[in-house]
Amino acid sequence: MADFDLIVLGGGPAGYTGAIRAAQLGLNTAIIDKREVLGGTCLNIGCIPSKALLVSSQYVHFAHHEAQHHGLKFDGVQVDLAKLMARKQTVVKQLTQGLEFLMKKNHITRIRGIGQLVAPSKVVVTQPDGSTEEHRGRNVILATGSVPMELPNVTIDRERVVTSDEALSFTEVPAELLVVGAGAIGLELGSVWSRLGSKVTVLEFLPRIAAFLDPDVTQALQKTLEAQGLKFHVETQVTNVALQDKKVLVQAKTKGEQNPEFQADKVLVAVGRKPYLDGAVAKDLGLKLTERGRVAVDEQFRTNLPGLYAIGDIIDGPMLAHKGEEDGIACTEFIAGKSGHLNYNVVPNVIYTHPEVACVGLTEEAAKKNGTQIKIGKFPFVANGRALANDESAGFAKIIADTRTDKLLGSQIIGGNASELIAEIVSIMEFGGSAEDLGRTVHAHPTLSEAVKEAGLAVDNLAFSIPPNPRQ
Ligand code: NAI
Repeated sequence: MADFDLIVLGGGPAGYTGAIRAAQLGLNTAIIDKREVLGGTCLNIGCIPSKALLVSSQYVHFAHHEAQHHGLKFDGVQVDLAKLMARKQTVVKQLTQGLEFLMKKNHITRIRGIGQLVAPSKVVVTQPDGSTEEHRGRNVILATGSVPMELPNVTIDRERVVTSDEALSFTEVPAELLVVGAGAIGLELGSVWSRLGSKVTVLEFLPRIAAFLDPDVTQALQKTLEAQGLKFHVETQVTNVALQDKKVLVQAKTKGEQNPEFQADKVLVAVGRKPYLDGAVAKDLGLKLTERGRVAVDEQFRTNLPGLYAIGDIIDGPMLAHKGEEDGIACTEFIAGKSGHLNYNVVPNVIYTHPEVACVGLTEEAAKKNGTQIKIGKFPFVANGRALANDESAGFAKIIADTRTDKLLGSQIIGGNASELIAEIVSIMEFGGSAEDLGRTVHAHPTLSEAVKEAGLAVDNLAFSIPPNPRQ
């Protein structure tokens, strides 16, 4: 048995970031994870491997469909899927090994096994060989993450009906792939396999794909993805999936009361994720959950149990790695007696399709619903020199500002490098800046970021390269 100032249960981005900050603040810290390596879903079977596949598959798409436009010819482009997957695994390994190094460097004790809080401050760990050991943590943080959500009547056999866990490692390109759910996972992995040669059909229950974005953004995204070969059926709710001889039969319900059927070689179910808590806290301790099944915490991440905190995907808020990381930092700062800070209104969200889509803050649709008076500036990448030179002229930057104060309230960007461009808006919003602040900031020329600046200027019809906006 060992005594720690802090035990972190779960080694994903929320857990490992919290552990590092705790160690930096002088807390004797341990981190427990059942995986052989740290990194959780994000590094092992989420954000990182999917980005590796997105990049490789985008090169394939470029060679097949875009190179000619640049005067380049690649004859007989072939994909060595095993090698492509091996590169992905190398990236994962490099990062997970880097994490082990960071744990050592920060003198964090790494414990392998499944941890359970059995009494306040008392954690029992079941190790891979079945033996158990007990540890005491003056403070314990739950950071056990999330797992893919399943659908009623749909058995995930992990062979033909799969989650993102398996779709990151197919050993063959499925001839036909059906994706259930047009969120980030469905669109990213649908793009990967479409670029590698699958016929991809996406079924979405809601009236539009990636419905957390404004309709003008999702329309542009859907149009571009359709041009790349993906097919979409919206307002289509999957109700049943059955394995047949060679194919999988998918039954759905549409708004018009029709019951269409689809066939595919593989079906990827990407309908969201749910918090994963299984057994992390002994039932008789009475951990309080919210109505939505997340762990209930106060503004300092304290649960209802003494000395127990919760962060990341198991508490309210977007299930995003970077949100979890900031939870981890703020939570451990509170534990160490400092004042942690996290602004949930300014958490960016990205879909890494091509083009990428990034957003932060208020949408136009949400502003209309809640009666916020807004003005909007939009700037198309087709009017941006660098985007044209890059052959990435699709999409636009959209800025949403408060009509009265000009304060930046939100932004959505669809275009090349949107994932990086959104960081500027996040910073300005974090400092309470305005559309004019954005428009008056010097941006290097020629850069894609000039389109974001111009969108800031367009809020007041002052963009340089496009005709003035009609008055909002
Ligand atoms: P999601 O919640 O973003 O999207 C799931 C979609 O499935 C929704 O649009 C929903 O309407 C649809 N759906 C639900 N039931 C359905 C049915 N029966 N038939 C048809 N459609 C149905 O979930 P997703 O994409 O699985 O992602 C899970 C979490 O992971 C999200 O919080 C997401 O933000 C996060 N994530 C973030 C990434 C990023 O930052 N790039 C990448 C991957 C995941």
